[in-house]
Amino acid sequence: MAKAALSIRLGRPGDARAVGMLVRRMTRRWILPDQPREAGLALLSRQGAAVQRRHMEEGHRFHLAWLGDTLVGVATMRDDSHLTQLFVSTRYHGHGIARRLWRRAMADAVHRAGTRRFTLNASRCAVPAYRRLGFVATGPERLSPSGVLTTPMELKRIPMRGRRA
Ligand SMILES: CC(C)(COP(=O)(O)OP(=O)(O)OC[C@H]1O[C@@H](n2cnc3c(N)ncnc32)[C@H](O)[C@@H]1OP(=O)(O)O)[C@@H](O)C(=O)NCCC(=O)NCCS
Repeated sequence: MAKAALSIRLGRPGDARAVGMLVRRMTRRWILPDQPREAGLALLSRQGAAVQRRHMEEGHRFHLAWLGDTLVGVATMRDDSHLTQLFVSTRYHGHGIARRLWRRAMADAVHRAGTRRFTLNASRCAVPAYRRLGFVATGPERLSPSGVLTTPMELKRIPMRGRRA
């Protein structure tokens, strides 16, 4: 993959359909196999275009990675502190796209809100990647209130020396 060709920009409501398709495709392939069936179906129903659009309108920050006209990755941040989605198209795994999306989402939240602590609920297959990004588990894998099996994780940002709080 040519690194220079990747561009990252904020999502807008017109992107909701592409985001929903990517997220649902990735969820079916990578997340559902580890989930109770009913919870998996409920999760998919919360990832469609209408819900993605509503979240954009509610102020969730969508950072979208594009190769030309093709959406290849998405990171979504709620309240400038909770990463609700991080997905990269399967054929582009292992090229650093999630790391670039995460850096962009983190920098955006720090810029907007001075965030020092980030949280997420990781699917089983994503835990190792989140560790590489600097997250640590804050508890064991458990069923969330929505019935999905995830591991709660956090990343505490250490402000650079000399910077104001
Ligand atoms: C998890 C996911 C977003 C990673 O995307 P990616 O673009 O392949 O990740 P990157 O190439 O940016 O890798 C980031 C770091 O994680 C590591 N990593 C990525 N996938 C990994 C894996 N399966 N096991 C161990 N480490 C992994 C990389 O080595 C890299 O670390 P390094 O830079 O220190 O070498 C992607 O695999 C994905 O979309 N998975 C399915 C959906 C999912 O589970 N999303 C999370 C929902 S909670």
